[in-house]
Amino acid sequence: MKTRICGTGSALPKRVVKNEDLSKIMDTSDEWIRSRTGIASRHLAVEETLAGLAAKAAAQALEEAEIAAEDLDMILAGTISADRLLPCELQRELGAAKAVAFDINAACSGFLFALQTADAYIRSGQYRNILVVGGEILSKLMDWNDRSTCVLFGDGAGAAVVRPDEAYGILSSVQGSDGARGGVLSCGGRRNNNPYVTNSTALSFVTMDGQAVYKFAVRTVPKAITEAVERAGLTVEDIDLFVLHQANIRIIESVSKRLRVSMERFPTNLSECGNISAGSVPVLLDDVNRRGLLNKGDKVVLAGFGAGLTWGASVLIW
Ligand code: COA
Repeated sequence: MKTRICGTGSALPKRVVKNEDLSKIMDTSDEWIRSRTGIASRHLAVEETLAGLAAKAAAQALEEAEIAAEDLDMILAGTISADRLLPCELQRELGAAKAVAFDINAACSGFLFALQTADAYIRSGQYRNILVVGGEILSKLMDWNDRSTCVLFGDGAGAAVVRPDEAYGILSSVQGSDGARGGVLSCGGRRNNNPYVTNSTALSFVTMDGQAVYKFAVRTVPKAITEAVERAGLTVEDIDLFVLHQANIRIIESVSKRLRVSMERFPTNLSECGNISAGSVPVLLDDVNRRGLLNKGDKVVLAGFGAGLTWGASVLIW
């Protein structure tokens, strides 16, 4: 039994912020951002909620999968920036009363970890119709006085409906985490209001050692992909599309070089979306799906990596 993606969807906030716009409010430039990251603009949520974006993406995925929200057995949402700290918001938005719902915090690997969790539930036979979502409004976790982080990220959400299938679906998965190195990309929790705590820390935002994260990504991602592809009994030459987490075009180019696979097989949306963390893989997957770049039987790699540190890769037959 395999876990098959039967429908995809995505939603981005209306407001587009270009590099030139950022250069008017901080000491940066289009040239600096573009040359180091490949990012030209990003969507930032001004009015939208994450649950609203996720519900929009989910509705498209449900429509393509021809499943009603009421028929969902489970909703798994990969995110670190939910509107509220407690879960089940998307379930309420969708009216998916029968579903079991919870959030998964694996930062930029959130969609991959949610998909792999869904795969385990489906192969165990416990659930059949699962909605997997990855989405973020990371702009609210950014320090807008820190130009080295805030220019990199964008907001948005993507979704996939997965169901059991005999022939098509996930062939293999790899996942990993390394909490010992987590300090290179971090974000503190809420301010503690407990009257018994005297050393409560201040409000906290995302902090990052960019070069350490870069090195982690270019070493770990090709390794994880190679392992997942081998576990599937394939070689990287057999893979039609590599849908990678969109953090930096130089990271994607380095992965393509290390795997000796042409960049043509690595679709990107980084230029228009920036890094949407848990949202980036499902938003890009929906984009390639809607553009008709995925044919039945194609072999696809999905891979995510990021804070934690965490990483995950899955190989599937579309
Ligand atoms: N605009 C202009 N200058 C900036 C800037 C910005 N937005 N952000 C930082 N700088 C400056 C720094 O202050 C520093 O200046 P200094 O040399 O005078 O101290 C300089 O640019 C650093 O530049 P450089 O050494 O070329 O940076 P880099 O090549 O390491 O690139 C990143 C920085 C963040 C783009 C890169 O390290 C990266 O992409 N890392 C991975 C991050 C990532 O993907 N994180 C998410 C993973 S899920």
